[in-house]
Amino acid sequence: MTTQKMVIQAQGVTKELKLGKHTIHALRGIDLAILDGEIVSIVGPSGSGKSTLLGLIGGLDTPTRGTIVIDGVDITRMNEDQLTEIRNEKIGFIFQFFNLIPTLTALENVALPIQFARKRNFNPNKRAKELLDLLGLGDRMNHRPAELSGGQQQRVAIARALANNPPLLLADEPTGNLDTESGVRVVEALQTIRAESGTTVVIVTHNQDLTTYTDRVLTLIDGMIQDGAMHTL
Ligand SMILES: Nc1ncnc2c1ncn2[C@@H]1O[C@H](COP(=O)(O)OP(=O)(O)O)[C@@H](O)[C@H]1O
Ligand SMILES: [Mg+2]
Repeated sequence: MTTQKMVIQAQGVTKELKLGKHTIHALRGIDLAILDGEIVSIVGPSGSGKSTLLGLIGGLDTPTRGTIVIDGVDITRMNEDQLTEIRNEKIGFIFQFFNLIPTLTALENVALPIQFARKRNFNPNKRAKELLDLLGLGDRMNHRPAELSGGQQQRVAIARALANNPPLLLADEPTGNLDTESGVRVVEALQTIRAESGTTVVIVTHNQDLTTYTDRVLTLIDGMIQDGAMHTL
């Protein structure tokens, strides 16, 4: 029997947001298990709670009820400082807008989080070069973001998110701004990363085509998981 490590465990997770007199039930009881090295996509209509769920998994916010365990650590009741540390150590984020620093080259953008890491495990420039090579950007390292296509910029953002080698990469609509072909290249880049480093990846996407490139599809509707929550061995 193989025992695979769980990187994400969520149990009974709810998130309520107060808006004046109203309470919005953004998540209504999420049970979820994601194994080490899985690439999972989350789909669902706009407003179904995808970004809220990703934010809770990534320690950007805390749930109203329920528990969340990330890489063996219960983050449910952590304070802001503790969450910041978990994010720095364990989680890489990428978003729809690439948020690269326009005045820095691709190489400098990727090297930056290594220079700022409290525990520096890599040589910044060497690591940045390796990651950009791996993502097919070996000949673009000295270009600034404005000199790169959207798909190339997103791959630089992936390299930056992975700079300190987090076990978990979270991506919120990473291909939302890209044409289909560039989007597929981004998901292929995530597969390359998984093969190379065993990184677990969770991608929120509107694009059904991309889900065929992931191991498992989780469907969220009205704050609840309709399908795909548990790993079936
Ligand atoms: N900061 C917020 N304040 C109030 N309501 C919010 C906030 N963030 C999200 N919501 C609401 O929570 C629900 C889930 O939103 P979200 O997670 O962004 O959905 P998705 O990413 O699937 O489009 C929606 O009804 C949304 O309007
Ligand atoms: Mg969203």
